[in-house]
Amino acid sequence: MTTAVQIKTRELKPGFGAEILDVDLARADADTLAGVVDTFHRHGAILLRGQGMTPAQLVDFVALFGEPEDHTQKQFTLPGHPKVFVLSNREVDGKPIGAHNDGVGWHTDYSYKAQPVMCTMLYAVEVPDEGSDTLLADGCAAWNALSPERQKELDGLRLHHSYQHFMATREFGGRQELSDELKRDNPDVEHPLIRTHPADGRKALWPSTGTVTEVVGMENPKGLELVDELVEFMTSEPFVFRHKWQVGDILMWDNRCTLHTGTLYDDTKYFRTMHRLWAKGDAPY
Ligand code: SIN
Repeated sequence: MTTAVQIKTRELKPGFGAEILDVDLARADADTLAGVVDTFHRHGAILLRGQGMTPAQLVDFVALFGEPEDHTQKQFTLPGHPKVFVLSNREVDGKPIGAHNDGVGWHTDYSYKAQPVMCTMLYAVEVPDEGSDTLLADGCAAWNALSPERQKELDGLRLHHSYQHFMATREFGGRQELSDELKRDNPDVEHPLIRTHPADGRKALWPSTGTVTEVVGMENPKGLELVDELVEFMTSEPFVFRHKWQVGDILMWDNRCTLHTGTLYDDTKYFRTMHRLWAKGDAPY
């Protein structure tokens, strides 16, 4: 398949995601980069293999999608590059250089913010020989697979998201007592359970785990059971793409219509270091 600017792609999974072929991002011209951005907005996720990008080039690239977003845990940003967050199990001089297993558990990034990040980009610096795959779940395909009656029941429901709840309860990546500043900067928010994509109006199932404390207007445990049921459905095999990493891969996904999770690996045997960048997003509707 090709676009107007001759971007060669192949699907990551039938109906979801695109691997972009024969593009060297560090040397691509403006038309090619515009084609890459366009491909992203239409496919939910893009993959480019074999890239050689400096941190500054990564920031310039993500800026094509929107203003680069800051990170909440500033201790793990790359020195000199505040928009580049490091995921790693490496330690230098006894100190971790990044967050370890930070993204394990199905979620959508920054769902605890009024304007969650639009996209997430991961760049593979070093990867284990096995494990540590990243999984993406296609919320549009999951929504489209529901019966019209079920869609009607779910449309209009809202979820309550809480950063404080997330940081106090998460299983991987370290629980934290939050400073007053972090609490002030991250008040609870509500978002729709069914999200509309601004590019073309397509709808996506948009639950999450970790940050959700209730379905607004529904008592627990019923509300959280509904969220669990929908996450389980959306992350079942028919809707999931599994990415096996190689050094130099760039994987980007559209948080407006996907959930994602990292997976564990043998961290006594392997190192994994990834650079993560975000572009700002809009208020979900
Ligand atoms: C993330 O959720 O941001 C990271 C996922 C991964 O490390 O595979």
